[in-house]
Amino acid sequence: MPTELIVAVDVPNLDQAGRVLDRLADSVRWFKIGMQLFTAAGPAVVREIRARGGKVFLDLKFHDIPNTVAGAAESAAALGVEMFNVHAAGGEAMMRAAVAGASQAGVPRPTIIAVTVLTSQAATEDEVLRLARSVKASGLDGVVCSAREAVTLKRELGTDFKLVCPGIRPAWSEKGDQNRIVTPRDAVKAGADYIVVGRPILAAANPAEAAKRVIEEMRG
Ligand code: C5P
Repeated sequence: MPTELIVAVDVPNLDQAGRVLDRLADSVRWFKIGMQLFTAAGPAVVREIRARGGKVFLDLKFHDIPNTVAGAAESAAALGVEMFNVHAAGGEAMMRAAVAGASQAGVPRPTIIAVTVLTSQAATEDEVLRLARSVKASGLDGVVCSAREAVTLKRELGTDFKLVCPGIRPAWSEKGDQNRIVTPRDAVKAGADYIVVGRPILAAANPAEAAKRVIEEMRG
């Protein structure tokens, strides 16, 4: 499957999300909803994206006792998101509970990925690999990672293990607060299944045009 672009809808409310979707729904298939927007707008924003034919990655990074995460996972699946995530640090019982919960919603199970180590925290490649192995052993579909780790992770965990890579910056964009950045083309070459791009598209004078440029750059 070719690498997919996911646009991070990092805006504070449903109104602004609607404006982003007005501009991007024709050119972009996947949208990421994080804590800020979901806390403000809730399931309505998921429905808004789905009504326009988009797919949703719900980035809430569940991390709690297994029973609670199972319930959250079932709710996410029932809401109709195509992908959501948990913290690998929550442990294998918690990750298995996420899979079990999401499988109970009576809809095709969404893709479930895990955050290994937050980019704001220092981690060795060994730690990332150890956590990624426990993610796979728990039956999840993949991890969020830097495209710089993609070659190693695909080699160690197999090509079917999905890699979702933020920290992407086209050559023409501002780097913002992302340090270890990779271009869309290099992320595709490294084996990313999805790239997550926020500000280079949202903050562009013409977001639709910026998204098209990123997609062209991905295709090479
Ligand atoms: O604007 P920018 O392209 O930096 O947005 C990247 C998105 O990916 C943000 O929503 C950010 O929270 C998320 N993210 C990240 N690094 C991670 C995990 C998630 O930048 N390790």
